[in-house]
Amino acid sequence: MPHWFQRRYLDLLGSIYVYNEHRGYTAIDRVIEAVRARWPGDRQLIDKIEKHRADERKHYLMFRRWFERRGMMPLAVGPTCGHIDRFVGIMFRSTIDDLDPLAVVGRDDLFERMCRVISLTEKRGHRQVEILLRHPIVRSDRQLVKIFQIIREDEPSHWAPYDEWLETHGRRPPRWWERAIDRAIHSELLFVKLPLLFLATWTRRLARWPDEFDPRPPATPTLERPFAH
Ligand SMILES: [Fe+2]
Ligand SMILES: [Fe+2]
Repeated sequence: MPHWFQRRYLDLLGSIYVYNEHRGYTAIDRVIEAVRARWPGDRQLIDKIEKHRADERKHYLMFRRWFERRGMMPLAVGPTCGHIDRFVGIMFRSTIDDLDPLAVVGRDDLFERMCRVISLTEKRGHRQVEILLRHPIVRSDRQLVKIFQIIREDEPSHWAPYDEWLETHGRRPPRWWERAIDRAIHSELLFVKLPLLFLATWTRRLARWPDEFDPRPPATPTLERPFAH
């Protein structure tokens, strides 16, 4: 396989992960605030979502470090490559930033919808990591393999709090049509957006790291060292 192809593939893959991990923990920040406001006494739920947030930030930092070692910035791929952005867009007809988390958490029917969206997204992420860990181009990069192995271990605890909430509140699990939307979003990314981005060699790189614009410091500074697993 030509060297440039391999480099471009990894460059894009890393950039998409940088975007999605960062989008993940910044979106969860908004959920945590709303959950705290509605169920201040539910320490178990809050702790689990906090842990989810800390993991996603850890993942983001692992990819940031991976790029730093390569001596380059990620490609500016943006929300069109964000699985959760597309999913929320379809299910709530709103962008994540325009969605009022307090309004969602304040209504059980909307909160259960959000739980299913997050759970499906996390399960999709887990399956994708399994595939990537078998991919020969990914396997050629030892640091990347290590990163994906850590993500594979973390992922099951990410969908657990949302599945548990649905179960304990007698709400239904995802239906076939929700799974179909999840599948369609993933296929679109894989078979339409990724090949287009691959060819768009003019795509610019980020000038700053996304976390430089974060509104608040990380909730769990002990997880700052991303490879300390
Ligand atoms: Fe993640
Ligand atoms: Fe995750």
